[in-house]
Amino acid sequence: MSASNNINITLKVWRQKNAQSKGQLESYDLKNVSTDSSFLEMLDQLNEELINEGKSPVTFDHDCREGICGACSLYINGRPHGPGNRVTTCQLHMRSFKDGETIYVEPWRAAAFPVIKDLMTDRSSFDRIQHAGGYVSVNTSGNTQDANALPIEKENADKAFDAATCIGCGACVAACKNASASLFVAAKVSQYALLPQGQVEAKDRVLNMVKQAQKEGFGPCSNTGACEVECPKGISLENIARMNREYLAASLSK
Ligand code: SF4
Ligand code: FES
Repeated sequence: MSASNNINITLKVWRQKNAQSKGQLESYDLKNVSTDSSFLEMLDQLNEELINEGKSPVTFDHDCREGICGACSLYINGRPHGPGNRVTTCQLHMRSFKDGETIYVEPWRAAAFPVIKDLMTDRSSFDRIQHAGGYVSVNTSGNTQDANALPIEKENADKAFDAATCIGCGACVAACKNASASLFVAAKVSQYALLPQGQVEAKDRVLNMVKQAQKEGFGPCSNTGACEVECPKGISLENIARMNREYLAASLSK
């Protein structure tokens, strides 16, 4: 069992009033941070101190605090979700940092994710991409077919499930030099492309979601694979290849 320690750190935190104002990094010394606390608990500690000093707390997004919702999107020491592998910011612990370390905390940097305040960005562009095609039409009139009545090859079911684990955090966009949303869109296309339930709207889905991503200002895929490396859910680049195949087939048949 690892012993808990307390460390002292210096935080360089991005402070920005709103989307229109210019932001800047501000420095805070934080003492006695338990290495057992999560990164968000450490920010809670900072905010308690700021409030006690009559200063404005740092705004950051969070919800589930267990790696499910994708809200806790922070750029930590130059990496989306910080130094951990396959973890979200809320699953990152302070034991990943050293006593005396300086930690840079910034919001996602992408035109399609404008800063709302400090570390919180507006990721509703992802919602609009989902609305454009991330659904299946299901008859809910009372005679809905039992899901198990449709046989699905295990390999396809597993791949669809893997794609569906995307939590919409936006780390793939933050990691990409083009701020491309390709990995996110590909995951949302792939989770249906491999299932019979997804075939009815398949062509419109891929065309509309890609179109919406472009409209929102996300860039083209950079082909560097940075998104896959930083994705906390391990969404594979294979999904982007599948999305491109789906897109080509849908474009040719229209
Ligand atoms: S593909 Fe990965 S990094 Fe991108 S939004 Fe989904 S979970 Fe986050
Ligand atoms: S707060 Fe929900 S994934 Fe981190």
